[in-house]
Amino acid sequence: MTINNNFGREPPSPKTGALDADYGHHPIHDRAQRPLQVIVIGAGPSGIAMLIELLKIPFLTIRCFEKNPDVGGTWLETRYPGAACDVASHAYQYSFCSKTDCFAPAEEIGDYFTSVAKKYGLYNHITFHSRVTSAEWDELKAQWKVMVESDTREAAPETFVADVLINAGGILNDWAWPEIDGLQDFKGHRVHTATWDSTIDLKDKTVAVIGSGASSIQVVPSIQPVAKKVDVYVRSPTYILPTVGFGFESSTFNESYSESDMQNFSTKPAYYKQFRKRIEQQMNENFSNSSKTSTEQIEARLWAENMMKKAILSPELQKKLIPSWELGCRRLTPGLPYLNAVQQPNVNVIRDGIKRILEGGIETVNDQVIEADVIICATGFITSFSSRFNIVGRYGRTLKEMWKDRGAEAYLGTAIADRDRLTGRVTAVWPGSSIHFMEMVETPRWEDFEIQYVHSNPFRFMGNGFSQRETNGADLTYYLDQMRE
Ligand SMILES: Cc1cc2nc3c(=O)[nH]c(=O)nc-3n(C[C@H](O)[C@H](O)[C@H](O)COP(=O)(O)OP(=O)(O)OC[C@H]3O[C@@H](n4cnc5c(N)ncnc54)[C@H](O)[C@@H]3O)c2cc1C
Ligand SMILES: NC(=O)c1ccc[n+]([C@@H]2O[C@H](COP(=O)([O-])OP(=O)(O)OC[C@H]3O[C@@H](n4cnc5c(N)ncnc54)[C@H](OP(=O)(O)O)[C@@H]3O)[C@@H](O)[C@H]2O)c1
Repeated sequence: MTINNNFGREPPSPKTGALDADYGHHPIHDRAQRPLQVIVIGAGPSGIAMLIELLKIPFLTIRCFEKNPDVGGTWLETRYPGAACDVASHAYQYSFCSKTDCFAPAEEIGDYFTSVAKKYGLYNHITFHSRVTSAEWDELKAQWKVMVESDTREAAPETFVADVLINAGGILNDWAWPEIDGLQDFKGHRVHTATWDSTIDLKDKTVAVIGSGASSIQVVPSIQPVAKKVDVYVRSPTYILPTVGFGFESSTFNESYSESDMQNFSTKPAYYKQFRKRIEQQMNENFSNSSKTSTEQIEARLWAENMMKKAILSPELQKKLIPSWELGCRRLTPGLPYLNAVQQPNVNVIRDGIKRILEGGIETVNDQVIEADVIICATGFITSFSSRFNIVGRYGRTLKEMWKDRGAEAYLGTAIADRDRLTGRVTAVWPGSSIHFMEMVETPRWEDFEIQYVHSNPFRFMGNGFSQRETNGADLTYYLDQMRE
């Protein structure tokens, strides 16, 4: 099956014929007639959910390759001080696997995903320390050829084939040093938030933190009490707000759950479900704020500005940290502890750009040299979407090549057309609410696809005229179950 997109040029047909021999001897929808091989790349939260669903389907051979030693993705790798989920953990768990006690630090979230993977027996299907290095579509076989390298064994890369390849490699998994002149010359300790060095001791150190994204917003309040001085280099400000989804009245405060709340969460499933629904209802209600000229945007922006003004006492610091653009142009980040930390006497917020890094510190574009013992790069990830390994699709075209000029483009964010055909290009963020997205992808729109059959007889699935029900002794009056009495 391909996206309807070949401008009248037919790709070569897959070989057919071999499967004809057993034509007509099986009941309809007999999956045993075409067992499939599926490869999942990555065992983070997405890979785990995918594997759980795949295991429900019979006649699949499922393989998951994970470069890390365990499951969890972000939550296994991220260990900077303060790393935690910044929404309520009750809204950061699978709908089908509740964890009613509070958890939020990265380690605990990691443990949650490990426990889910164990509960659903996923470990047998995951090969760890195994990095996918390329995936190439074979048009004739209608299969992917996937190269996998072991990170622990000195062995040649192995090749696997898959009828279906699912990339769950994460869009925030490919960290990189920022491109700043002289970064390599720095003689102090240099660390990136995405690959934290747990041996680093910040006590009494002068620390430069580059970046003002969610990682910086969590790391700064965690190191401020320990370090002698913290200089935070903020290239662009961002809206920093109270945490959404914590407590029952979370838009204005962040109250801890009481003992009785916790008791109710763990002993009354219906109560817990209602509680989760309230959190997510609140999160889902806010989408109209993202519309540039809406009243909701104007009101929400005013609310956010006032929130920040209330939290930041100095007008000078307010000017440095309150964005001048609409709410939602950049990720809204919960982080009142950050706003508190940057007002402490040992913290400076520096809005001057960085010219270069010297052996002993940072030189700003205003030629000011600010010394540092440690530089923390909270500068994020490569988010090109074109994947860190080579993906070669139809006609030998690589994803990197296809997306070189115009950036990432995908059909509903789920499949990639082999040629430019789509209109209304959207990059990264879905142009609707989360609910809109879920409804949009709920059922496949087969009319958007051009289907090519692997078998020469597209009606082969109809089989020998019998239903599965008739061959396995099932209820043959199932259609009366909905009968009104
Ligand atoms: C510091 C941080 C905090 C975050 N906090 C939140 C939050 O509070 N709320 C929220 O909703 N989201 C948060 N996110 C986003 C978070 O990344 C996602 O919620 C979630 O982890 C995405 O899951 P994933 O499985 O798609 O990707 P990941 O968690 O990134 O997992 C991808 C997996 O694929 C593996 N992989 C990648 N490439 C290969 C390859 N070539 N071969 C083999 N394996 C490969 C990786 O090793 C990894 O295990 C945060 C992200 C970061 C970085
Ligand atoms: N708990 C959480 O929920 C949580 C925590 C951490 C991360 N995350 C997720 O991870 C994503 C990435 O977060 P992140 O904070 O790691 O990265 P980020 O949001 O991409 O922020 C990177 C920061 O580094 C700055 N920067 C990058 N290169 C620079 C340079 N050369 N000079 C000066 N400044 C530079 C950026 O400035 P500009 O803005 O000017 O480019 C930005 O402020 C987030 O969007 C979020 O989805 C979530």
